Amino acid sequence: MPGSWKRITETDGENPRYDARTEERDHAGPLAGPAGAPRSSDGGQETGNGDTAPQFIPEQPRRSLDEVILPDTVRQRVELALDLVAHHTLLYDTWNLRSIDPYRRGTALNLYGPSGTGKSLCAEALAHRLGRSVINVDYAQIESKYVGDTPKNIVRCFEEAHEHGAVLVFDEADSILGSRLSRVSQSADHAVNVSRAVMLRQLDRFDGLVVFTTNFPRNYDAAFVRRILTHVKFELPDPETLHRLWERLLPEALPIEPGFDRGALAQESAGLAGGDLVNVITGAAAAAARRGGESGVVTAGDLMLEIKSAHRARAEVGRAPEPDGPAEYTVRRLSREEVLGSNVAPDAVKAEDAQSPDSAPSPVAAPETQA
Ligand SMILES: Nc1ncnc2c1ncn2[C@@H]1O[C@H](COP(=O)(O)OP(=O)(O)O)[C@@H](O)[C@H]1O
Ligand SMILES: [Mg+2]
Repeated sequence: MPGSWKRITETDGENPRYDARTEERDHAGPLAGPAGAPRSSDGGQETGNGDTAPQFIPEQPRRSLDEVILPDTVRQRVELALDLVAHHTLLYDTWNLRSIDPYRRGTALNLYGPSGTGKSLCAEALAHRLGRSVINVDYAQIESKYVGDTPKNIVRCFEEAHEHGAVLVFDEADSILGSRLSRVSQSADHAVNVSRAVMLRQLDRFDGLVVFTTNFPRNYDAAFVRRILTHVKFELPDPETLHRLWERLLPEALPIEPGFDRGALAQESAGLAGGDLVNVITGAAAAAARRGGESGVVTAGDLMLEIKSAHRARAEVGRAPEPDGPAEYTVRRLSREEVLGSNVAPDAVKAEDAQSPDSAPSPVAAPETQA
């Protein structure tokens, strides 16, 4: 990692003098007026609220890349991202990639794909591999109802990351990197555009590693897509990866019925992500704990029941993948036997049968991995 990032208050021929207040001033015009700006209870306009300013505290990553189970293709992309960081000086200075990409100082990565596939875990593990602390930022933390505070918060998290040499992770980054609004009619919309402009500028100046994660990559503004050097697509685990995930995720201390078929588990959980498996294992463990005594061991039945429930949740709960975005999974019908053996209402089968084959996934449709 190059040590070329200048304190933002320094004057630098390449980088114009810059500080958070300049950033605010640059964009103050339309925001400063009364329209659309939240007011405090006494009627005065709030431009700062130091008491509630979010803290961006660097933490030591606890999980390593060895814990991240990925198909080879994805792992190679992750390794490539690490190479970009590790060899930055060689690439940009010695081999003079700077001549074709003069403004790139740091490295920005985007990990995108279905939820629960290990993107946040991987971001933490990248920091672990680089021996750096990590600052996790979520949008709710930086978005402020007070005009001008959101850009200030964005600047602050970059400052903190620089100060501590931390990897900066923006989880669910689509909210902050979303498309800028092209017809700005209200000052609230203008504020969104200002925040994104500030984010772009910070990205250009930061020389560390920034990792974005998202389940909705289509929402990114094109300007960010270009700024981000490497995009890594996370997919739902293929059968082999599922196998490895089951091996990895079942804790050794968990009492499990001897001799049950892990292959069958992997097969039944096709279409689920690692995060779903964590929920499955936790649910099955709770069932075993409730029984207690001699029968207080996790059985294949406990796990299968939770797997069905996880399939159902994937199909029914949450926002559907976008039609032109990367497909999360295709669906298959559950057989009547499967439905009867699960906690899915049997009459839902009829509802599904009535649908045409190319209609939207039914409530009882269970996910299957992509071909
Ligand atoms: N590829 C994976 N390898 C190992 N564990 C995983 C993987 N994917 C998910 N998990 C487990 O599921 C949890 C949730 O995953 P997370 O990283 O939050 O997913 P995402 O950020 O993609 O939604 C992780 O903390 C981990 O325990
Ligand atoms: Mg995540």
